[in-house]
Amino acid sequence: MKISFSSTVNLTQQDCLVIGMFEEADLASPSNLINLDFVRHALKTTAFKGKKAETLSLVTPADMKAGQVLVIGLGKAEKVTEQVLQEVGAKAISTLEKSQAKRIVVDIHLDSFGKAGDGAAHMAAGAQIRHWKFDLYKTQKKDTPCLDEFTFVTQHPHDAEKLFSDLSAISEGVALTRHVVSEPPNVLYPETMAQKALELETLGIKVEVLGEKDMEKLGMGALLGVGQGSIRESKLIVLQWLNGPKDEAPVAIVGKGVTFDSGGISIKPSNGMEDMKYDMAGSGVVLGMMKALATRQAKVNVVGIMGMVENMPSGSAQRPADVVTSMSGQTIEVVNTDAEGRLVLADALWYTQDRFKPKAMINLATLTGAIKVALGEEYAGLFSNNDELSEKLTKAGKTVQEQLWRLPMGEAYDRDIDSEIADMKNVGSGRGAGSTTAAQFLQRFVNNVPWAHLDIASVAWLKKDHPLTGKGATAFGVRLLNTFIKQNYE
Ligand code: BES
Ligand code: MN
Ligand code: ZN
Repeated sequence: MKISFSSTVNLTQQDCLVIGMFEEADLASPSNLINLDFVRHALKTTAFKGKKAETLSLVTPADMKAGQVLVIGLGKAEKVTEQVLQEVGAKAISTLEKSQAKRIVVDIHLDSFGKAGDGAAHMAAGAQIRHWKFDLYKTQKKDTPCLDEFTFVTQHPHDAEKLFSDLSAISEGVALTRHVVSEPPNVLYPETMAQKALELETLGIKVEVLGEKDMEKLGMGALLGVGQGSIRESKLIVLQWLNGPKDEAPVAIVGKGVTFDSGGISIKPSNGMEDMKYDMAGSGVVLGMMKALATRQAKVNVVGIMGMVENMPSGSAQRPADVVTSMSGQTIEVVNTDAEGRLVLADALWYTQDRFKPKAMINLATLTGAIKVALGEEYAGLFSNNDELSEKLTKAGKTVQEQLWRLPMGEAYDRDIDSEIADMKNVGSGRGAGSTTAAQFLQRFVNNVPWAHLDIASVAWLKKDHPLTGKGATAFGVRLLNTFIKQNYE
């Protein structure tokens, strides 16, 4: 689909004109492309109020140039943000995708929003994110929609294009994350994820892939133990985007990449086990975020580390009661082989701080089912050893509506994972606070670096419609971290 910005448009019957209305107010800078009297009439006779992303679909009178008109609610004028505009763009495409329109012409002008052209660029970016589909494995593409063009009317098309090219980089990152998270686990496993990462070399990202031999040499017994039941080789993938000041310490982003989590010998119930293909979402976010940074040539030093394993039961699988030695030297009694994400991250985090001495280290992981119990699908859990870092991340999350809620950590929780026979065990003694116990475990592999753990098990995959990403993989974290980096390090 072609996205363009233009100051003038000649409408035809095959176009759908999209206009906006503020909540319980007037049309937003009413379009002069057609006579809107019939729209005003319709507004009086329907219940449409102009609430955020509310829509009113109208067929035009026969003598009108555009075949259809869609009115989209913008919400209260004072509450319009970049995020709201992206959601409006997304709503336009999700509503009209299957209509007969060949072209969507969005004629919404927000005089008081940002710089000239910004509003149009954000609406376009939202539409671009929402337009993504995962239909690789459908041999019969049901609807061949005729829609092939999306035009945004703005008096400043050149400015809009400039901002849009930056925002497109983020949409591309989001699409890559959603792609790898949606791929089935027989297609996407540690080695194929490494191939995906290697494709980013063309953008100027340095990519290294460590195999099991390399990790054995480094002493990564915790990560390797998780993958030992699988026929797929575990990998540690290291991405470096160094486009900031030379010798400046990088920001490090570490992702859990369990390409399938069967639970291992502590096997999960079969009902819903298929969801565990998205247990690599943390690593998927690292991949997509690195692509976004490189595509928009961000002036920063960022390293992305992905711990990739498959957690399977087999004759060679790790047993509950096994003791493994991590790269840090600390020993772990594996009481439950389904608490595997923390084992993978233990070595990935240690490796990252040891090798890169980052100025901040953030990890993302679909780590615990308990985080869904606590937060539903509205927030991801935030755990951190640093108040300032927590605030910066929370703020970035608010900007892009990928919200974080900080949960407590502390010594009493930490004691819960002491083991009788090793330095620690990988699950608590069952006294609740499962997400915090997991965070305490991770913290035992973090030294003095400002660190935050985002438990994204609640938000990485949605069964209901998300305003920007629809159903399925959300890529939660890509837009958040991109914004966090932009707000603090560029
Ligand atoms: N990958 C799961 C967590 C998860 C659950 C992610 C639901 C996404 C949706 C993780 O490896 C896991 O199995 N956690 C266990 C921990 C328990 C054994 C202490 C859990 O949450 O039940
Ligand atoms: Mn598990
Ligand atoms: Zn898992």
